[in-house]
Amino acid sequence: PVVSALELGGVKIAKEDVVRDDPTNNVPDTIFSKLGMQLHRRDQHPLGILKNAIYEYFDANYSNKFDKFDDLCPLVSVKQNFDDVLVPADHVSRSYNDTYYVDPQTVLRCHTSAHQAELLRKGHTHFLVTGDVYRRDSIDSTHYPVFHQMEGFRVFSTEDWEASGADGTAFAAEDLKKCLEGLARHLFGAVEMRWIDTYFPFTNPSFELEIYFKEKWMEVLGCGVTEQEILKRNGKLNNVAWAFGLGLERLAMVLFDIPDIRLFWTTDERFTSQFSKGQLGIKFKPFSKYPPCYKDVSFWINESFTENNLCEVVRGIAGDLVEEVQLIDNFTNKKGMTSHCYRIAYRSMERSLTDEEINELQMSVREQVQSKLNVTLR
Ligand code: PHE
Repeated sequence: PVVSALELGGVKIAKEDVVRDDPTNNVPDTIFSKLGMQLHRRDQHPLGILKNAIYEYFDANYSNKFDKFDDLCPLVSVKQNFDDVLVPADHVSRSYNDTYYVDPQTVLRCHTSAHQAELLRKGHTHFLVTGDVYRRDSIDSTHYPVFHQMEGFRVFSTEDWEASGADGTAFAAEDLKKCLEGLARHLFGAVEMRWIDTYFPFTNPSFELEIYFKEKWMEVLGCGVTEQEILKRNGKLNNVAWAFGLGLERLAMVLFDIPDIRLFWTTDERFTSQFSKGQLGIKFKPFSKYPPCYKDVSFWINESFTENNLCEVVRGIAGDLVEEVQLIDNFTNKKGMTSHCYRIAYRSMERSLTDEEINELQMSVREQVQSKLNVTLR
């Protein structure tokens, strides 16, 4: 069905408001069609099941103190998405290459941190925000331009840490780590974990939590002690706070053995019927693995070429039939011209593709790579 208007968290949105053919807008139809799907609000969907399991942990350990939001509108201002969480003016995440802009002041949120400031201002001190987030990116089995995050935020007052003898920041950092280690155990059972120091503009210190899974360390979330400036600007003068943001798909792929991120979007009953409300332990049984088909495309790039732009073109044509776009050759000749060769893997999650169908897709890719990206095919 072609949707042309929808309501998101109480906000009415028409397609023309979000997708426009002008250079200040880079939202394609494929992304518009994802707005309002709200996979995280379906109790039978792996993402909804995971969200509920995390809620359960917080309800049990903090006697229902965390306020929960899962219906906030994903269209937010540049101020909410970036300025309010202290993202520097020249940070790459603000670029049109990385973020979907509706217009110069409005974006599809690229993280749930976009809601921190407004919720603080409204007086919330313990909250969880779950929602769909949007990022332009390359294509493989773990990256999709729409995914889901849960933000956690907890504010402390002086009384909370004074007795401990520690300073506020150290106290919050320790509480945060304990909370998230407990969450990881609630979801995964006894797992090996480690903390990695990292950087986020909105927290200091900042950490990543990794868990050891299938012989690999896997990053599951980012977190840290909230920058004082954010608290100060939003009416919290004598407080400290922690925040975390976790990617639901990443965790769900591990917990449910889901091999490809596109499966979250399928309506194929052989996928959807395998999950039920409240059942975190279920392992997905692949119904069949259809064969992939690889096609290469080579061209001379120009100064404005980016892999994200290429991937947007490919997704616009092949949709969820594209599994991976991989740079397999890259060289610069004596004249200074640079050539890239990309290998595109086409594979359906639901059926076998015919040669004809794939050839047609690849033909369109070749045409549009040339017409939309202004590169020269080789
Ligand atoms: N917003 C960060 C991200 O999307 C995650 C995060 C949230 C980190 C809150 C620290 C605190 O990567």
